[in-house]
Amino acid sequence: MALIHGGQLQQVAEQYKIPLSDWLDVSTGIAPLSYPIPDIPLKAWQQLPQQSPALIAVAKQYYQCSELLVTNGSQAIIKALPELYSQKNMASQDVYLPERGYKEHAKAWRSAGYTLHFYQELLPNINQLPTNCVVVIINPNNPTGKFFDREVIVQYHERLKQLNGLLILDEAFIDVMPDGQSYCGKVEDNHVIVLRSFGKFFGLAGIRIGFLVANGYWCERFKALLGPWQVNGPAQIIAEKALNDNAWHNEQCEKLHTLRVQQEALLWQVFTDKLVSTIQGCDLFLTLSFYQTGNAKKLYHLLCQQGVYCRLSDEQDTLRFGIAVEENLMRLEDACLQACGEVA
Ligand SMILES: Cc1ncc(COP(=O)(O)O)c(C=O)c1O
Repeated sequence: MALIHGGQLQQVAEQYKIPLSDWLDVSTGIAPLSYPIPDIPLKAWQQLPQQSPALIAVAKQYYQCSELLVTNGSQAIIKALPELYSQKNMASQDVYLPERGYKEHAKAWRSAGYTLHFYQELLPNINQLPTNCVVVIINPNNPTGKFFDREVIVQYHERLKQLNGLLILDEAFIDVMPDGQSYCGKVEDNHVIVLRSFGKFFGLAGIRIGFLVANGYWCERFKALLGPWQVNGPAQIIAEKALNDNAWHNEQCEKLHTLRVQQEALLWQVFTDKLVSTIQGCDLFLTLSFYQTGNAKKLYHLLCQQGVYCRLSDEQDTLRFGIAVEENLMRLEDACLQACGEVA
């Protein structure tokens, strides 16, 4: 069965009978400011998309790694990985995943017949991991915002090497974290792979680009499995330009940070610490936890009635807000105030 994610505005608009164009959609963690689309030469639309060496070179520079594979979004790897891994390591059967996190990981490992073990805020006890196991870390996690330092990741990587296991680091949102936290530069052996998502930080999820950062062994295997023409030509041209534009990266980081600080202050002011216990996240989304069970669901519904679409967690106890641009803040504030008035 398909999982619910943010970004399903069409469906929500129909449910609440509000025209699509009237919504404020803050249901995803995709940057609200997008990299400007360059002119695309006609041949990029006409020809079959060969893998662009220029894109690969620029991506290696941006991700600071020596090997990578360009894919149709990191989701393509998330889906294909468990089957491929179970063929490589036939003794593997256990996977450790964050209980709250992007649920496509769990879905893929479950489908491949693995035994799923969920951890909460803290990573599973490193001394109790079984041989041949897999550990998935989403860093920073979506939706909790939990972030593990490089030193912690190194320990898990070393342990999984000893155990003949695999560490999967999903760094879909790491572009907004301080420099030097990504693990891409440390990927050499068969026991770690990193997933990078292009669409979130660059605000272009629709072009479907992601990267597998792994050693040659894994890149070759995935390349063979996924087959030719994974990523369309126009998307490759856009990504090459975007990944190479350092000035834009710096500007985007600063703008997103300013917007996040503003929005976090606004959400605290509106919801207050009487209603909300924590606001966690990163510069691409903010997740609100509530003291009273039931409030998240009520508020979600009250916001939708006003055409404001945020993400109600699968557990139905938190609300995640993507970052809104400045001109939408007042609308967000008004809607939240009205919704709060009705649950208070
Ligand atoms: C944590 C995480 N990883 C991976 C993905 C997949 O993103 P994409 O396929 O666009 O790279 C998502 C999508 O929301 C996500 O939240």
